[in-house]
Amino acid sequence: MAQATFHFPRGFLWGTATSSHQVEGDNKNNNWWAWEQESGRIAEGHTSGLACDWWAGRWQEDFDRAVETGQNAHRLSIEWSRIQPAPDRWDEHALDNYHQMLRGLKERGLTPIVTLHHFTDPFWLEEQGGWENEAVAALFEAYVRRVVETLKEYVSIWCTINEPNVVATAGYLMGWFPPGKQDLNAAIQVMTNQVRAHSAAYHAIHEIQSEARVGLVVNYRGFDPLRTWFPPDRLAARYVSRLYNDFFPRAALDGKLVFLTKRITIPQAIGTQDFLGINYYTQELIGFAPRAPKEIFLRRSFPENVDLSPSGVIANIPKGFLKALHWGLQYKVPIIVTENGVEDAADELRPRYIAEHIHQMWRAVNAYYPVEGYFHWSLIDNFEWHQGWTQRFGLWELDPETQIRSKRPSADLYAAICKQNGLSSDMLAEFAPIILEKIFPD
Ligand code: BGC
Repeated sequence: MAQATFHFPRGFLWGTATSSHQVEGDNKNNNWWAWEQESGRIAEGHTSGLACDWWAGRWQEDFDRAVETGQNAHRLSIEWSRIQPAPDRWDEHALDNYHQMLRGLKERGLTPIVTLHHFTDPFWLEEQGGWENEAVAALFEAYVRRVVETLKEYVSIWCTINEPNVVATAGYLMGWFPPGKQDLNAAIQVMTNQVRAHSAAYHAIHEIQSEARVGLVVNYRGFDPLRTWFPPDRLAARYVSRLYNDFFPRAALDGKLVFLTKRITIPQAIGTQDFLGINYYTQELIGFAPRAPKEIFLRRSFPENVDLSPSGVIANIPKGFLKALHWGLQYKVPIIVTENGVEDAADELRPRYIAEHIHQMWRAVNAYYPVEGYFHWSLIDNFEWHQGWTQRFGLWELDPETQIRSKRPSADLYAAICKQNGLSSDMLAEFAPIILEKIFPD
């Protein structure tokens, strides 16, 4: 067996990512909490409950876990509904709690990356029409100003909106997320307002903190044609990719919002990304299906004979990750991998998923793609939105009832990668021998 190590550049950021509603617990003043109380919304009737109990202080022990496993960064999000519990009220205690968390990261040598909107909205905003209401851009800007003014001492990398493409798709086309709509016009309105809100936040942050770096986080999903020889499949895959993957970073590049039926230009959006956050989990095949109007004339599937996560939602396709990073190059800004991971309670697939994806990322870095860091989703099992607690993404397992954490083997593999700033054949021999020959051939 060849012995070798794939090294990453000095200063590469290695961390994990979390989001407020998924880890904090007792987070009752937003649209997700209300949604969880409705029957039939969340798998097995689960609720976020105490989540990982970070709001009461358990972030301290989890940040210690991150440090002990060699990480040097962490991505978390701020909960709008805590900072602004009512339209005319700011909560200083909540701001102070985030102050302490961010100081906690800094004191532990973890570089913070902070997301300002990760899926949840204050309940009062939802009552005003949420993201369909044009006023959301100004409201979001006011909240962002308050946060950045208070927390800038600890943070210089800000993500405005996490996965606006998922919010629009899951909330307004599929009906999985609140407000549970299936309405194309509403989705178009929401996407337009997300670009406005992102741009307003971008400019506000730079006004307050000139050295800040601000970006969007996109959920990139590879879409390949089901039948490469069939032009309608090729067209469908290309179109879905443009709308899902390109829409937001394109808007932040040249201010152009390209829908199937119309184009809009928002000049304030031009040049509003200092980096691009890419969340990559998987890729899929797209077939044109004229008899499936409900699925918007598409048939979606995974290639045959690929490794699937236990509930079948993630196919392990590491080459799709390299493709995602290659796709990101066109926006001509540095890339941060803001999320990558797999649900796998038994930790059978995760070690090789991690190793194979990091190997592909090394290929990108080795070819001088400007990738600055990697954030594994996630540090610890957390509330997985409409899948509740049925999908487990943590390097640590969590029992949400007892709050007991148990380390999965993947945490040790990831620790070895972070500590060595690279991926070695010895690590694979220990944690994922099945792919050793594939990644380090003789
Ligand atoms: C989201 C996370 C989520 C993860 C796993 C990402 O799309 O940003 O909040 O937990 O996927 O499904």
